[in-house]
Amino acid sequence: MNKLKGYAQISQLATLKGVAEKDGRKPLKEDLSIIENGAIVFNEDKILWVGSSDDIPTKYMDIKWESLKGKTLTPELVDSHTHLVFGGNRSQEYSMRLNGATYADIAKAGGGILSTMKMTNEATEEELYTSASERIKQLRSYGVGTIEIKSGYGLNIEREVLCSKIIDRLKKDFYPQVQIFNTFMAAHAIPKEFASGRDYIDAVVLPALNEVVKTVEIDAVDIFHEEGYFSTDDVCYLFDYCKTLGLKLKTHADEFKDNQGAALAAKYECLSTDHLLCSSKEGIKALAQSKTVATILPGTGFFLGKPQSDARSMIDTGAKVAIASDYNPGSCHCDNLLLIASIAAPNLGLTQAELWSGITFNAAAALGLYDQGAITVGNKPRFSIFNVPSLDEITYNWGKNYAL
Ligand code: NIG
Ligand code: FE
Repeated sequence: MNKLKGYAQISQLATLKGVAEKDGRKPLKEDLSIIENGAIVFNEDKILWVGSSDDIPTKYMDIKWESLKGKTLTPELVDSHTHLVFGGNRSQEYSMRLNGATYADIAKAGGGILSTMKMTNEATEEELYTSASERIKQLRSYGVGTIEIKSGYGLNIEREVLCSKIIDRLKKDFYPQVQIFNTFMAAHAIPKEFASGRDYIDAVVLPALNEVVKTVEIDAVDIFHEEGYFSTDDVCYLFDYCKTLGLKLKTHADEFKDNQGAALAAKYECLSTDHLLCSSKEGIKALAQSKTVATILPGTGFFLGKPQSDARSMIDTGAKVAIASDYNPGSCHCDNLLLIASIAAPNLGLTQAELWSGITFNAAAALGLYDQGAITVGNKPRFSIFNVPSLDEITYNWGKNYAL
């Protein structure tokens, strides 16, 4: 039976109703639509009622109620960009970077993504599954309940297929406590034996994709659109094929250089395009005029000691902006989305409303999830609860974990 449940006396219930009404664009403080002393009624599938604890309809009086006095409830935190299936670690590269080497220098010397590829290929399936499970549990402990996971450290047919299958296993095993979104990203780097991105796509990416889709539900396909990785032609070649399979698309774009990646992602109606550190004004405008979410990954900028994306212009121009961790062993070995967002807000000039839209409503949209991200009737009952009485206290206490 689909039982009714209610939370009452919620000190602050941040519904983000106003954010949803604006489709996540230019969110203002009042769009957080905070209800003091709030209450909600829901069943397993849906939110049925939202309001003040003083106005609970009589028909819901006898259901199972729980008091959330002193606590804050928000739409569920969504980490819409992680690479958390990997073997080994790259702590040595971190110290090389502190000694002056750049991420690009290390990659050119065969380190970077290719060194994680080696360690991922050396690990057993069970080791990869177990380490990824531990990472997911850690994210869940911060209140993150929806997580996108990309494959992309296998970089040969057999291992890429295996990594997508591991993500599929995790998806089934963790649902519904954690909702996992499976992104296929074999086009993450080009192993040395291939002369070009196109050769590698033909030899590995397409055969692996064709194999994976036979047994695994792939939620999106991603590609690293960047000089030294995959060119604009490579992106179009892969995406035109993905379209024939009806797959949704994402890109890593304009991270080190403006490749007009933002505009290309908008043209392909990608769910999101991520990084965008070097995107041009035209690229940002193209995103603002599209449904493609602009996902910023401030943790990567912090960890690589690089300038940040111009999130202020993106929001002011009208783009939907999400914030994600980019949790991975190389460019951002930090799994804590709220910590990243709390540090990013004052440094990128973001307001609380923009921060919260970025890690809930817009992050859900970056995964094509349009029935969560705001606490409104009919939406999925996916929320995060924090053991502090106000939204402001969550991010003010940056680095502390109040998630329940
Ligand atoms: O999003 N930019 C490409 N991929 C990852 C980095 C992966 C790695 O360094 O292992 C990113 O930053
Ligand atoms: Fe990434």
